[in-house]
Amino acid sequence: MKLIEGNKIAKEIKEEIKIKSLQIKEKRGRAPHLAAVLVGHDPGSESYVSYKIKDCQEVRFESSLIRLNEDATEEELYEIIDKLNSDPLVDGFIVQLPLPQQFNEQKVIEAIKPEKDVDGFHPMNVGKMTIGLDAFKSATPMGITILLKKYGIETSGKNCVIIGRSNIVGRPLSILMSQKEMNSTVTVVHSRTKNIKEICLSADILITAMGKPNFVTADMVKQGAVVIDVGTTRVKSDKTKSGFKLSGDVDFENVAEKCSYITPVPGGVGPMTRLALLLNTLEAAK
Ligand code: GUN
Repeated sequence: MKLIEGNKIAKEIKEEIKIKSLQIKEKRGRAPHLAAVLVGHDPGSESYVSYKIKDCQEVRFESSLIRLNEDATEEELYEIIDKLNSDPLVDGFIVQLPLPQQFNEQKVIEAIKPEKDVDGFHPMNVGKMTIGLDAFKSATPMGITILLKKYGIETSGKNCVIIGRSNIVGRPLSILMSQKEMNSTVTVVHSRTKNIKEICLSADILITAMGKPNFVTADMVKQGAVVIDVGTTRVKSDKTKSGFKLSGDVDFENVAEKCSYITPVPGGVGPMTRLALLLNTLEAAK
């Protein structure tokens, strides 16, 4: 079993991004600029956004964090989005999800100008990506395809099973994996699928994005499969300072014994999602 070290790959590519960022700064007088909007204080979101800002500092991007209270109104958020859409000094921005209940997330995503939607969530970007046109690709699916390529994992003609059909991971990933660059035969399984175990056992590449700790057990994994774990559930832990740790969807200890490759949680897919965000922001700045 070989561990797929997202942290290591992200670090290497961040060095390349830093060089390009400095070149852009020299050419046009300012570095790429990523802004993040955070509504409320969801602990997971607080931590993801602080990592995104730290990444920007590492690659010499400019960054801004715009905060709104938990009880902010839709009008307040749309006002900020409009400002960012028309700010020539901001190349791209994200609104961290999930949002508090009073917001319609889909409407919020659609308010972001597609040219600044570095998360790749706007229907214009998803649609363009789907038919193979140039577009910002959703960050997690893009990060996963970079990881597979970096590790030289053969995807062409392989059976790829994706657990989960969300708009930000499972669905766009199923499209990228079936396109000409990756050439996999893709099956998406979800909460209404009847024989999940049998389908998972057919996977050469098994990618799980469920958010259910220990959902994928060793009896669901074919010997020699590649397992990619997108799950990041915060669970209580008495071994960490914060009292929480991140748990993937995979029963890592037992599944790892059967795999050719596997991603850890944390340190697998997570850093690659953030890396893809930096790559999209670099493109937006160009
Ligand atoms: N929440 C969980 N993942 C993401 C992401 O990639 N982008 C945003 N904006 N919110 C998220």
